[in-house]
Amino acid sequence: MTQTITVIRGDGIGPEIMDATLHVLDTMNLGLSYEFADAGLVALEKHGELLPAATMDSIRKNRIALKSPLTTPVGEGFSSINVELRKRFDLYANVRPAKSFPNTKSRFPSGVDLITVRENTEGAYIGEGQSLSEDGETAMLTQKITRRGSDRIVRYAFDLARRTGRKKVTVVHKANILKSTSGLFLKTAREVAQQYPDIQCNEMIVDNTCMQLVMRPEQFDIIVTTNLFGDIISDLCAGLVGGLGLAPGANIGTDAAIFEAVHGSAPDIAGKGIANPCALLLGAAQMLDHLGQSEKATALREAIIATLEAKDSLTPDLGGEGNTMSFAKAIAGRIAA
Ligand code: NAI
Ligand code: MG
Repeated sequence: MTQTITVIRGDGIGPEIMDATLHVLDTMNLGLSYEFADAGLVALEKHGELLPAATMDSIRKNRIALKSPLTTPVGEGFSSINVELRKRFDLYANVRPAKSFPNTKSRFPSGVDLITVRENTEGAYIGEGQSLSEDGETAMLTQKITRRGSDRIVRYAFDLARRTGRKKVTVVHKANILKSTSGLFLKTAREVAQQYPDIQCNEMIVDNTCMQLVMRPEQFDIIVTTNLFGDIISDLCAGLVGGLGLAPGANIGTDAAIFEAVHGSAPDIAGKGIANPCALLLGAAQMLDHLGQSEKATALREAIIATLEAKDSLTPDLGGEGNTMSFAKAIAGRIAA
């Protein structure tokens, strides 16, 4: 059976890493067909809007999208397209794995294997209640945490632990200070945890978590947390394992899921053909897991690791002299072999 996915080639390095990723996927016999849709700057130029209705319709219909980074124009009254997509499709779970890879510039070439599960629709990022006093001296922001939102994200983390054979979920919070919001999140997390006696659960305050992640990252398995903390912690975790070129993310809701790289459109290297395609490829591996093609996902990850181990055609961010497409071809070659 053929599965159609929406493919968004995006801005900056987006088209380069997407072409490389599709080159690899095309060698894998996945039964995928691609429906290309525009978003971001390229959509603004072609269709006059950042997020055209046709793109929304395509994602709604196919329910799965593979997306390259998008540039949100700064200071022109545009709200973030990524935040908008997450909101419109209620993509409540942002799942960001961080695993040690060989031959990166990481301080932890082994031992890190954790997943940050970030609540993606609430907290400090709801974009409501932002105000600045008339004299410009006082700014306010509203945070929103709901029991429903907390329950479903914590449940997602525990179900993910069960599904993937992981043993521990760490609930990261700041309930000692943010008593109402983080307090409700923690209280709800404790209730959910009781329904998963087979999975160990511990609690950690967010500032201590940052220190612990840098000192002893191997103690973490799955981290579940609210939107703002998850945004920051997951970038920290990407830094633990070799940087943005290796960090994928999945945005998962009940009716749709969007798979991507954590990094942005990297205007500083766009058009040079040297962007690392691994983050998007690893996002594609998350997509294959989601589609029930876990063996293929594993094969893809193993080929990436083998290519890193062999230092075959690595891109300059990893200290190599390869380029986006030669790196992708080296990975595809290992899958075929
Ligand atoms: P960025 O992630 O694009 O770049 C940060 C640094 O990392 C740059 O030096 C870049 O060259 C490098 N880098 C990123 N990805 C790389 C890759 N695959 N291979 C090698 N080097 C890589 O972040 P920045 O500069 O803050 O944002 C640029 C644009 O991207 C902005 O317009 C921002 O709004 C957008 N953005 C989009 C995201 C998305 O669509 N998911 C996420 C983050 C930013
Ligand atoms: Mg971020």
